[in-house]
Amino acid sequence: MIEWRPISLLVIFFLSVGFDFHGFLFTHANPIRLELIHRDNPLLIGQLPRPKQTQLERFKELVRNDITRHRIISYKRGQWGASGRRNDLELEASIEMPMHSGADFGTGQYFVEVKVGKPAQQFLLIADTASELMWVNCRHGCGNKCGTHKRLFHADRSSSFRPVPCASEMCKVGLADLFRSPKCPSPSTPCGYEFSYVDGSVALGFFANDTITVNLTNGRKMMLDNMLIGCTESTKGQGFLGADGVLGLGYANYTFATTAAKKFGGKFSYCLVDHLSPKNISNYLVFGGERNHSKHSLVGNVQYTKLLLGVIPPFYAVSVSGISIGGKMLNITPSVWDVNAGGGTIIDSGTSLTLLAEPAYTPVMMALELAVSAYDRLVSDDGPFEYCFDSTKFNESLVPKFAFHFADGARFEPPVKSYIIDVAPQRKCLGFVPASWPGTSIIGNIMQQNHLWEFDLGCHKVGFAPSSCT
Ligand SMILES: *[C@@H]1O[C@H](CO)[C@@H](O)[C@H](O)[C@H]1NC(C)=O
Ligand SMILES: *[C@@H]1O[C@H](CO)[C@@H](O)[C@H](O)[C@H]1NC(C)=O
Ligand SMILES: *[C@@H]1O[C@H](CO)[C@@H](O)[C@H](O)[C@H]1NC(C)=O
Ligand SMILES: *[C@@H]1O[C@H](CO)[C@@H](O)[C@H](O)[C@H]1NC(C)=O
Ligand SMILES: *[C@@H]1O[C@H](CO)[C@@H](O)[C@H](O)[C@H]1NC(C)=O
Ligand SMILES: *[C@@H]1O[C@H](CO)[C@@H](O)[C@H](O)[C@H]1NC(C)=O
Repeated sequence: MIEWRPISLLVIFFLSVGFDFHGFLFTHANPIRLELIHRDNPLLIGQLPRPKQTQLERFKELVRNDITRHRIISYKRGQWGASGRRNDLELEASIEMPMHSGADFGTGQYFVEVKVGKPAQQFLLIADTASELMWVNCRHGCGNKCGTHKRLFHADRSSSFRPVPCASEMCKVGLADLFRSPKCPSPSTPCGYEFSYVDGSVALGFFANDTITVNLTNGRKMMLDNMLIGCTESTKGQGFLGADGVLGLGYANYTFATTAAKKFGGKFSYCLVDHLSPKNISNYLVFGGERNHSKHSLVGNVQYTKLLLGVIPPFYAVSVSGISIGGKMLNITPSVWDVNAGGGTIIDSGTSLTLLAEPAYTPVMMALELAVSAYDRLVSDDGPFEYCFDSTKFNESLVPKFAFHFADGARFEPPVKSYIIDVAPQRKCLGFVPASWPGTSIIGNIMQQNHLWEFDLGCHKVGFAPSSCT
């Protein structure tokens, strides 16, 4: 069982039942804005017993998480057996990290506060683009034995809570891919799920509809009715690092992202500040609306590229055609970018570093190693990066620019600090991680920093532009 810790902060939110605005009149004018709270935010640290880490230790953990996440993606794509470079970290990761059977797992880096039910109960959920379901730890049908725990959703107290019956089409067809339990002793029994993890832990619960209350950017609230949620009644094994559940942001039929985007003009966007900025500086996830670009200090034009929805579900895939360094295209076999050939690229907010499939990783590292060969290489056995150097005399303006090129002509040129990363004082490292081949390449959240990303699910395109995100 997860150990529950009382959180006074949430109790305060719990009391803030404001005025609820219901309807779609303001749909486009007033987008939903959710604060993305980073895992390392001091706001959360009080709640999560996390050991003090050096920056290097933090990167080690990030890379371990990234590798685990990549393996889960491989598993989802049926590339479980794929063998790539099996470095020690990867082996270590397979022992330490909970490996999921493919349902949502919530290893994302960002948390959001979300209200569930009527009257609203507030929870802290992991916002995860890899997840297909929103679920909360929950109690149901326990009468006066439910207890009063604030970090559990008390479904019996919500007048809008409606379990999905197991005999319904929704359960039998719509939720078939979501680890629905086949058991259906009577037609009105709730449609159950059982997420099992490779490490043996499980999350048991059932699907239901309920109302989610969200804040609009104009400060008002809005209720989204009949949103699919998971009522997780028991978990066994490793918990979710202090979160009350997961907010699914993947591209699938019932995720919060697709449902909310549908109601708010088909779009959502986020802008991530520099990962090394003070952790109390917020990022926001915005649904719908024309984002007020001037407010987000855009410092360049917005470019668009096609969003490949449903090709690597539930992820947001893009069609990369190549990588250039210093304006020179690298010689990378095209199958690396081809989903049908076992390759492909996703944009993922829950992966920190950028993972490149082996046939892309090797030429990228060779070109960048050459570019920084003037600085003394620092060799160390304790990873997690393959190439680090003494950055005392580092001159950023001498580094050739790295760029992702997309099949439709768009070009994403991140700042140097997004791929030559400060890992410790006087120590910079090339911030790429090798991924097994065949396999998926991932543009991670550090690469995405200082850019506004707008996912247009209606028009199947993603826009990006440099921004300070403040
Ligand atoms: C909505 O906004 C209010 C007031 O700014 C804040 O107290 C509350 O936590 C927010 N709710 C959510 C779900 O973010
Ligand atoms: C849950 O919501 C979906 C989508 O709005 C709806 O089709 C379905 O009938 C609802 N089910 C229940 C049990 O309320
Ligand atoms: C969504 O639902 C439709 C119709 O039920 C189905 O054809 C489609 O495969 C589903 N999509 C996903 C991503 O599950
Ligand atoms: C963030 O924390 C720093 C101290 O660590 C403080 O000086 C600053 O005012 C805080 N900023 C915000 C937006 O809370
Ligand atoms: C966008 O933000 C700027 C600066 O905050 C403001 O002056 C402008 O009126 C806003 N535009 C819209 C359309 O809201
Ligand atoms: C970095 O290199 C540029 C271009 O050669 C040069 O103009 C600049 O003075 C250098 N900066 C430092 C701090 O050495």
